[in-house]
Amino acid sequence: MEKIIIKTPEQIDGIRKSCKLAGQTLEYIAPFIQAGVSTEFLDQKIEAFMRENGAIPATLGYGGYPKSSCISLNEVVCHGIPSKDTILKDGDILNVDVTTILNGYYGDTSRMFTIGEVSPVALDLIEVTKHCLNLGIQQVRPGNQFGNIGFAISKYAKARGYSVVYEFCGHGVGVNFHEEPQIDHTSRRNTGPIMKPGMTFTIEPMINEGRPGTVVDKNDNWTARTVDKKLSAQFEHTILITETGCEVLTDVTGEY
Ligand code: MF3
Ligand code: CO
Ligand code: CO
Repeated sequence: MEKIIIKTPEQIDGIRKSCKLAGQTLEYIAPFIQAGVSTEFLDQKIEAFMRENGAIPATLGYGGYPKSSCISLNEVVCHGIPSKDTILKDGDILNVDVTTILNGYYGDTSRMFTIGEVSPVALDLIEVTKHCLNLGIQQVRPGNQFGNIGFAISKYAKARGYSVVYEFCGHGVGVNFHEEPQIDHTSRRNTGPIMKPGMTFTIEPMINEGRPGTVVDKNDNWTARTVDKKLSAQFEHTILITETGCEVLTDVTGEY
């Protein structure tokens, strides 16, 4: 039944390198994220950085997706398409999501950025979402069940007065973009497959200020927005299960 790929040491080495580059791509783009720039400009810089470092942007052409990153502003939950018409302005919050393919291996990560002065609720939502990712990561160790990730996340998000998006999930990643298992961020305690060393996957909670529901844009078929147009935030890392716990492969800041 289970089709979760246990990666070989050689594959892990390749995935680790790709993930490091994905993390470095977010570090690289950070200083360019300012009021007045278009999200297409950021996308072009991201693509150039990946290619200069020997990688290909995984999103480009993926299921027809047209750009090298996803940049999701304010009420956009995920899959915001970079555009020359989307200009960053004071008070915006945004998620930049990048996926590298380096020597055939995938690394997937995203984080939030803020422009100028943002509202207290936006800052609180961002802080809570980051903590949700960290609580999910704390559940990663051999023998635990995948469902405990989403359980930890949803318990905390709800306690803080927010809702968890259930229509988009984390996923196995490494030798393909989207592998098994799906990482549901609202799952129930002690459910799901058993974690084993050598599995690599993302945790990428999307947390909403208001209702959890999303609507995909009818014109572009990608951009997912909150149903109530309230704010949404997301953080994502690619994680390796080790013999003793886990390694956050896309962290290049030394946080983990
Ligand atoms: N990087 C996204 C994720 O975390 C996937 C984007 S797929 C795209 O899974 F086609 F929208 F780019
Ligand atoms: Co992902
Ligand atoms: Co991603």
